[in-house]
Amino acid sequence: MLVSSRSAEEYRAFFALTDDDLAGRVLDCSAGASGFTAALGAAGADVTAVDPTYVDRDALRDEVARSAAAGVALVDAHDDRFTWSWYGSPARRRELREAALAAFLDDLDARPDRYVVGALPDLPFEDDAFDLALCSHLLFTWAGSFDAEWHHAALTELLRVADEVRVYPLVHLGAGEPVAFLPALLDRLRSEGRTVRLVPVAYEFQVGATQMLVVRR
Ligand SMILES: C[S@@+](CC[C@H](N)C(=O)[O-])C[C@H]1O[C@@H](n2cnc3c(N)ncnc32)[C@H](O)[C@@H]1O
Repeated sequence: MLVSSRSAEEYRAFFALTDDDLAGRVLDCSAGASGFTAALGAAGADVTAVDPTYVDRDALRDEVARSAAAGVALVDAHDDRFTWSWYGSPARRRELREAALAAFLDDLDARPDRYVVGALPDLPFEDDAFDLALCSHLLFTWAGSFDAEWHHAALTELLRVADEVRVYPLVHLGAGEPVAFLPALLDRLRSEGRTVRLVPVAYEFQVGATQMLVVRR
């Protein structure tokens, strides 16, 4: 799996985040080398990042460099399945990623306690520890590696620690094919009493990936 470094600007667009959304306790789950916690933390927000790779921070530094190159190759391999409408150009995307990675690495040193080792579907947090949990490019993106049961367990765990969970994108890695088990998974969550919504967002990179999933307890 890639350990990528999306920026706070990208996260704001993926998750249609408002300043009100960011006023509470926020969790970036599967944060990888994302710059979200660094940027929002610097602005005074209460944000925590969790990812299994934080267990070995030296290995993580090597992995993020390898992942950056692999991420570009993945886009090149499926170039007809991506649109540059949001970024404007490959150079702008690269600029955002490089700045996010630099901010992440600085913040990892400056505020190490904000970067917690943990993995779904068993997070190391108390019930109700957060108001909002964000999950970028793990669930659904890696549905080739994690099945429907795992996704259900992961979402249930996120709802244990947070009132509201937002997930983006909702399609497979690369070409962005639909995830076959998504409709049944949403029905199952609704049948368990969860509030489930598919909300349009003002971001598109994988063609057609223009919705986030919002689930509340
Ligand atoms: C493609 S990266 C996305 C990173 C970041 N959220 C972003 O959008 O740039 C996927 C991340 O999920 C993490 N991951 C893998 N398995 C996980 C699990 N079971 N629970 C939480 N995170 C996991 C990986 O270590 C990796 O950092």
